[in-house]
Amino acid sequence: MKILEHVSLKPYNTFGIDVKARYFAEVTSIEELTWVLQQDKYPNKMILGGGSNMLLTKDLDLLVIHIGLMGKEIIEQQDDFAEIKVMGGENWHDLVLWTLEKDLGGLENLSLIPGSVGSAPIQNIGAYGVELKDHFVSCEAMEIETQKLHTFSLQDCRFGYRESYFKHEGKGKYAITSVNFRLSTKDHKLRIGYGTIGEELSNTGILQPTIKDISKAVISIRQRKLPDPAILGNSGSFFKNPVVSVDIYEQLKERYPEIPSYKVSEDKIKIPAAWMIDSCGFKGLRQGDAGVHQYQALVLVNYGNASGEEILNLARQIQKKVKQNFGISIEPEVNVL
Ligand code: EPU
Repeated sequence: MKILEHVSLKPYNTFGIDVKARYFAEVTSIEELTWVLQQDKYPNKMILGGGSNMLLTKDLDLLVIHIGLMGKEIIEQQDDFAEIKVMGGENWHDLVLWTLEKDLGGLENLSLIPGSVGSAPIQNIGAYGVELKDHFVSCEAMEIETQKLHTFSLQDCRFGYRESYFKHEGKGKYAITSVNFRLSTKDHKLRIGYGTIGEELSNTGILQPTIKDISKAVISIRQRKLPDPAILGNSGSFFKNPVVSVDIYEQLKERYPEIPSYKVSEDKIKIPAAWMIDSCGFKGLRQGDAGVHQYQALVLVNYGNASGEEILNLARQIQKKVKQNFGISIEPEVNVL
């Protein structure tokens, strides 16, 4: 394995930001990962997965380690469920398609989410009423400092809405090497109640959907609303949807009777940041090569040569205006580096 120097990270982040890594290594085995983490010559190291949830704002004066660990297998097959083990470098959507080919149910609503399997637990990826944690069994991660492999259970990961242990106490300390999922082998639980999935299915005349049909419906909805990072650089939702108290929600509802909302618990309400950003008039706005997507106001885009700073600047303007108009602070979902 070679350690390269001054490598452009443009192909390694879905925003397509052209910054350089001082050192760069691609690891394809646990042995290589162990070896590279032991190299004292490079004291500062960073683990890079699919690069689909980050905004790079400057050159990185460190050793960037790209996880290229591949492999997926069924490790336990029971009558009604199977457990699979997937290596961290696998592409998330390829994994979803692989499970569907084997008629394993659970991940279909998470179709077409960009990124790698090893990065997915970090922010507990979610879409259309399903989150990674719903099918997660455990993950294995190498501690960067000691090169020891640790197993993290569902509880250990402390998953929340786009949250986990790996975004807090565990931040920057581990490289996730593999993830185990538990999936159904029959009587799949179909989740079609969220958003427009039901509508999409009935429009195509499907009355008794299979998990493959659900995946297809999710793919068409996403393709209509969300930009393909291979064509237009982006990192999915840039901000998290804020969760507010019922009191605050009631006050907002008086001023904006049309405000959409989702109940999170008895006293908490989630408000779509996209709706607030849209109401502030940002949808479709373009400043140089940085912009707000024309169909989904929560997605910031790079029209070609935007710098991370330019995108960050636009994000700050959005945060400020949303705070002014609604009194609510919205926080980035992506990691800003
Ligand atoms: N809306 C607007 N204007 C817009 C876009 C949306 O007013 O430009 C309104 C919609 O009408 C709807 C509400 O905002 O009432 C919510 O929109 P949508 O259903 O598109 O979902 P979201 O809350 O914006 C979340 C996730 C997405 C996920 C979708 C579907 C977050 C931060 N984002 O978006 O996840 O795909 O739900 O489940 O939770 C991601 O994390 O990168 C991501 C794309």
